Amino acid sequence: MFYRPEAGHGLPHNPWNAIVAPRPIGWISTRGRLGDNLAPYSFFNATAYVPPQVMFASTGAKPDRPGTKDTVAQVAESRVFCINIADGALAQAMNASTSAQPAGVSEFDLAGVTALPCETIDCARVAEAAASIECRATRIIRQAGEANHVVLGVVTGVHIRPDCLQDGIFRPATGWLARLGHNDYCVVTDTFSMDRPA
Ligand SMILES: Cc1cc2nc3c(=O)[nH]c(=O)nc-3n(C[C@H](O)[C@H](O)[C@H](O)COP(=O)(O)O)c2cc1C
Repeated sequence: MFYRPEAGHGLPHNPWNAIVAPRPIGWISTRGRLGDNLAPYSFFNATAYVPPQVMFASTGAKPDRPGTKDTVAQVAESRVFCINIADGALAQAMNASTSAQPAGVSEFDLAGVTALPCETIDCARVAEAAASIECRATRIIRQAGEANHVVLGVVTGVHIRPDCLQDGIFRPATGWLARLGHNDYCVVTDTFSMDRPA
């Protein structure tokens, strides 16, 4: 089949988020005037090595945050954010933090996870995360469409949970958690190595 997005796909589920998959999940903590916030974003990735940089994208808005969601609104206020990486054992906690809550409600409590202070930025991080990436926002870019934003950030500090380092190599203890299409996820445990051609 072929479809043009503006004409519609005619399928029972939008195939778009299943085609670009699996996607890593940035479990993003932010701090704003109203308090701490935590939410998962799978339009997320690393974008550079030196200095290390990341991006995430927010699509849609909530009634008490005109034109966006809590995460982007709080980054716009504080100019910092923390990307927490959930491993397989944290899947339920990550999912519990996605519900739309009034601004100012901390999803740390809903997810049942512990907030610890970041080292380099004024923000909370998830103590149980396999890794936490402290970031300073460099740009908030409006994308085409309504309430679509991309946030770019430079990394200022990285926490790694001790049991996720095996012989000096980062490997989440209960596997990498990633988002597939719809409400499907995978936990990556079956990996292999390949040498690059000279
Ligand atoms: C695994 C997962 C990935 C998600 N990825 C995104 C995303 O990339 N962008 C987005 O806008 N919403 C995404 N969502 C939905 C947000 O988590 C949800 O709208 C949340 O309520 C936003 O919270 P906030 O207003 O506290 O930022 C995702 C939800 C889940 C469960």
